[in-house]
Amino acid sequence: MKGIVVKKFGGPEALELVEMEVPKIKENEVLIKVVNTSVNYADIKNRSGRKWKGPMPFVPGLDAAGIVVEIGDKVNRFKIGDRVICFPRSGSYADYAVASEKLTFSITEKMDFISAAACPTVGFLSYHLLKKIAHINEGESVLVHAAAGGVGSTAVQLAKLMGAGLVIGTVSREEKQQMAKEAGADHVIGYENFADSVNRITNGKGIDIILDSVSGRIFEESLDCLSHFGRLVHFGNSSGSTGMVETKQLHASCRSVLGFSLGTTRKERPEILQETASGVLQYIESGQLDIKVGKKLPLKAAREAHQLLESRTSVGKIILEIE
Ligand SMILES: NC(=O)c1ccc[n+]([C@@H]2O[C@H](COP(=O)([O-])OP(=O)(O)OC[C@H]3O[C@@H](n4cnc5c(N)ncnc54)[C@H](OP(=O)(O)O)[C@@H]3O)[C@@H](O)[C@H]2O)c1
Repeated sequence: MKGIVVKKFGGPEALELVEMEVPKIKENEVLIKVVNTSVNYADIKNRSGRKWKGPMPFVPGLDAAGIVVEIGDKVNRFKIGDRVICFPRSGSYADYAVASEKLTFSITEKMDFISAAACPTVGFLSYHLLKKIAHINEGESVLVHAAAGGVGSTAVQLAKLMGAGLVIGTVSREEKQQMAKEAGADHVIGYENFADSVNRITNGKGIDIILDSVSGRIFEESLDCLSHFGRLVHFGNSSGSTGMVETKQLHASCRSVLGFSLGTTRKERPEILQETASGVLQYIESGQLDIKVGKKLPLKAAREAHQLLESRTSVGKIILEIE
């Protein structure tokens, strides 16, 4: 089969298209013919050596949509021919991927493979952050950083679907405003003095929920516009910096700072993702959630896909099509 490998950490040129062996399944796993996969920010971090701790070389890619072509002896939820999405054990930038039964989810005929491939990481994550970590309540206000990105544009839509009364998004460039607005943001603002803007928009109350994937200065300034009883959920550090919080910023104001990682959850508590899966898939299949796809590229253009995401110029999800 064909697949992309990283033999040595580096820039986008580290992604090489090569011939490789089809991965072997274990008794609790399925082999999936990948139809589409998606590019996530974590793929950039893995390729450049900022995150990957596994053996080299490796196939990048966290999520895939495709068809089950082989099942392990102990698999009982799937059969050959099933349409699925998954978080594979092997990388997804390849013709075939192996996934645990627990991290594979059925999709219906209603869902095309492009929308399906866009879903696992950003759909599951955004749903879980809002519903299970921030425990969003009807009418609450939400600030989503990087609101035109894959996670951001999905989180904006889901916040509205879950009853948010006000959604504000931050973006770095004017060209990105349209995507965040299309996703449903009531206000789209830049990062410059964003806390002042949020306090102004909320008449000084501050915002109830903040989703922060940027970290560093953005995390710290977020605390300047988090309301009493507010929840700041930190789940990424695309800025490459860390942010600091002081205990006195939390207790009298009844505010919380929460962390979440889908990777850790997949490894240690995969069972809690079943409920998240059915919630997010229902939204997609009923047509309420339309995860925004900004670009579709063939697998052989994986380098271009990484360049786009890394240069901060992409909007929505980037999908890789496997021939
Ligand atoms: N915790 C988890 O389990 C988990 C899972 C998936 C993703 N994530 C995190 O969620 C974030 C979004 O992921 P995604 O795949 O959907 O990517 P994305 O949002 O499509 O792309 C990343 C965006 O981050 C923003 N950004 C801010 N500072 C940046 C910087 N210094 N360099 C590059 N980008 C910067 C950019 O938007 P602006 O230009 O508008 O700022 C950029 O478009 C990432 O931080 C990722 O690591 C976390």
